[in-house]
Amino acid sequence: KSLPPEVFHWLPWIGSAPGYGNDPVNFFFKCREKYGEVFTFILFGRKVTVALGPKGNNMILGGKVANLSAEDAYTHLTTPVFGKDVVYDVPNDVFMEQKKFVKVGLSTENFRAYVPMIEREVAEFVERDPSFRTYQMDDINEWGQFDAVKVLQEITILTASRTLQGKEVRENLDKTFSQLYNDLDGGFTPLNFLFPNLPLESYRKRDRAQKKMTEFYVNILKKRADGTSTNDETDMLAALQNQSYRSGRALPEHEIAHIMIALLMAGQHTSATTGAWAILRLAENPDVAEAMYQEQIKHFSNPDGSMRSPTYEEIKALPVLDSVIRETLRLHPPIHSIMRYVRSDLAVPATLAAPSKDSVYVVPKGYYVLACPAICQIDPLLWQNADKWDPARWNDQQGEAQKAFKQYVDENGEKVDYGFGAVSKGTESPYQPFGAGRHRCIGEQFAYIQLGTLLATIVRKIEMRLPTPFPANNYHTMITMPKEPRMISYRRRKF
Ligand code: HEM
Repeated sequence: KSLPPEVFHWLPWIGSAPGYGNDPVNFFFKCREKYGEVFTFILFGRKVTVALGPKGNNMILGGKVANLSAEDAYTHLTTPVFGKDVVYDVPNDVFMEQKKFVKVGLSTENFRAYVPMIEREVAEFVERDPSFRTYQMDDINEWGQFDAVKVLQEITILTASRTLQGKEVRENLDKTFSQLYNDLDGGFTPLNFLFPNLPLESYRKRDRAQKKMTEFYVNILKKRADGTSTNDETDMLAALQNQSYRSGRALPEHEIAHIMIALLMAGQHTSATTGAWAILRLAENPDVAEAMYQEQIKHFSNPDGSMRSPTYEEIKALPVLDSVIRETLRLHPPIHSIMRYVRSDLAVPATLAAPSKDSVYVVPKGYYVLACPAICQIDPLLWQNADKWDPARWNDQQGEAQKAFKQYVDENGEKVDYGFGAVSKGTESPYQPFGAGRHRCIGEQFAYIQLGTLLATIVRKIEMRLPTPFPANNYHTMITMPKEPRMISYRRRKF
């Protein structure tokens, strides 16, 4: 048994930080060529062992809590932002109970109410916002431009606050809330992950904003409790109120507030960035945008030529729309690195694809392990035309989706086909934009409804083109973003 190979580096403590930080995907592909699927690199003094491929994902995402801990890997970043006693500030079994509380709010009944709310927010935004200033009756043939990221960030927070976060948050978006959000967000960066305590103003702002944001939510709870404000909402606050742990302990107000902040931070950049990549791809591929538009005409046309609003069930059942989101998340998953802290020595087959007893690495306690589902999702060994954005690969349930995946050999030497629908289940899969296992995303369905409704509404309102080459990835932010320029040319549709 030996340690995994260590990636060569010149600078002892800094290690491979520049290569990893600038382009982790390219860095991992290069390392795989040299060292195989399991290797260790140095990141500012930390030893990080990467395990690639579906088997690597399985090992890390399906790992036991006793061995691999997410809280030990993330708490120094997340607790100052979310607040105490939730998520990674508590043992995993407590967080699992908190995830169950949140699931109560993510109900089909609530999602049904959300679709028209999201549609209205997006439609109003497109009509009112200066980014869409050519959006006027006389300008039907005018082309204007907007920044894909800025517009999607705004639309995402507007729609998330109107639905999940609740009307009080929505009403305060133009006021105090957005400043608090910006200050908190400024403390949720790779710098904060690498260096938990620096004497910087951004860290102080983060701490002040955390306290004020908590007070903001606690005040809403109090007003709803004493009847000053209505409490018949379909939002997450209403769902979290009056819940209790299995032990009988009631979920206290400060924990509800901190869970709300966690959901805000977990959902905002992931959804906004996915939406931005999606409209950039639609602008680059007007034929796909047209297919989405035709799909809506087919399902929602009124006899007078106008279109009616879709319902939640209908949004979920639009194959072109669904495939656009799936394919965007395949090529542009917002999260590239999933980390765990190694609590006790971990044995890892040296060659994950064909393990043998003779070649086992030991990843020692105190290391970190890192899964990168993004690698599998664009790996030419696993996908046909891996780097092509091709939503159609998801549509043909009979054949194409099967063909789009190359066959993959499991540990018993059996060939496995990852067909439609099978790919996002289980911890061993080449498609995991929402992670897998006990830490899997709970926001997936909400994100699909939010993205689905907003993309459907945007495609109804405007036609889009991409005036510049497709943007490259910016990995310097927490979430993989499109680099500038990322302007979209648009023109309003005629009706
Ligand atoms: C976890 C992706 C939207 C809440 C995760 C993880 C991934 C992910 C990859 C696993 C992290 C890990 O294993 O360390 C995404 C993507 C989204 C999205 C791609 C949108 C396109 C959302 C939204 C919410 C949310 C909208 C909230 C409403 C969470 C939570 C976790 C999580 C609470 C659990 C973390 C854990 O159990 O450790 N997400 N997410 N996400 N996400 Fe999301």
